[in-house]
Amino acid sequence: MSHSVLILPGDGIGPEIVAEAVKVLITLRDEFALNITLEHALVGGAAYEASGHPLPPATLDLARAADAVLLGAVGGPQWEALPIALRPEKGLLGLRGELGLFANLRPAILYPQLAAASTLKPEIVAGLDILIVRELTGDIYFGQPRGIETLPSGEKRGLNSMVYTESEIERICHVAFAAARQRQHRVCSVDKANVLECTELWREVATRVGRDYPDVQLNHLYVDNAAMQLVRAPKQFDVIVTGNLFGDILSDAAAMLTGSIGMLPSASLDANHKGMYEPIHGSAPDIAGRGVANPLATILSVAMMLRYSLAAPALADLVEKAVVRVLDRGLRTADIAAAGTETVGTAQMGDAVITALRELN
Ligand code: NAI
Ligand code: MG
Repeated sequence: MSHSVLILPGDGIGPEIVAEAVKVLITLRDEFALNITLEHALVGGAAYEASGHPLPPATLDLARAADAVLLGAVGGPQWEALPIALRPEKGLLGLRGELGLFANLRPAILYPQLAAASTLKPEIVAGLDILIVRELTGDIYFGQPRGIETLPSGEKRGLNSMVYTESEIERICHVAFAAARQRQHRVCSVDKANVLECTELWREVATRVGRDYPDVQLNHLYVDNAAMQLVRAPKQFDVIVTGNLFGDILSDAAAMLTGSIGMLPSASLDANHKGMYEPIHGSAPDIAGRGVANPLATILSVAMMLRYSLAAPALADLVEKAVVRVLDRGLRTADIAAAGTETVGTAQMGDAVITALRELN
């Protein structure tokens, strides 16, 4: 069966890093029998410049029709003065919402070759391999009522609501438990069940879903303790599942344990294996257009796409092995290079991954 992949390069370094990931996809198509078709479209600031909207209807239609979307990054200083509805970020949020991408998967892996990049002691982070599963379409970011109101006294009051239904909690927990089965068979559910009723329900539902996975060990942590444990002893975790707000914060903290923002991929999935795949970093306007950005986070996002949306787990493993091989050879873009050592550019890094793929074939 052929899968369709939509390529959305976006802004800043987006087009540069996505070009390398597309080279990988084309190599897999032409030399490894991956049955895919590729489409390209605009999103973010690039789309705004071309059509006046960060998520044009044509892009959304293509995204709806695709089995998987590969996105670079959006945003940049030139669009910061625009109203929120026209900002590049709106293109990204619109895609997540319109496509119903409720499950955000963010691995935080420390590559031994890059151990020095972490701010934590090597013995704390060596071998780190965590998967954070964050609910992406509910919680306080979307709950009603919300807003800023003026009280009769004239004082203003800000209000947001933490809201989750049982079915929303169930489906994200199923994603987490299923992922744990492919890993170390451990799930840690993070909530604040001691003070927030919404997350009391979360704990109850997570426990219930866990009974369907007797081979997976479930434990619960309050979010404050989870934050502490992440920096104290992060290797205790395998899969962490949590809501949108706690997941936003914990996933960024977990990413930074590795110290390598240019290395970390992500997936946002719907209920039917459709997904959007993107590096966790932004458009890096400070280095855009110079051909120095690290494309590995985007290439590793392709690996996640192969695993979760394109039913090609063996090719996913292959891409990840190729990245490791390139690191073993000592190739480093500037963001992951030790001070004063030799660096390679974006395209050289991409080419090296393709060479490694061919060797591993
Ligand atoms: P950023 O992630 O773009 O950059 C932070 C720092 O990391 C910069 O010094 C940058 O040069 C470096 N960096 C990021 N990716 C890199 C890579 N692949 N290789 C080498 N170095 C890399 O975050 P920042 O500066 O806060 O945001 C810049 C723009 O990106 C803003 O407009 C922001 O709204 C947008 N953004 C977009 C995201 C997305 O599209 N998913 C996520 C985060 C930010
Ligand atoms: Mg964030």
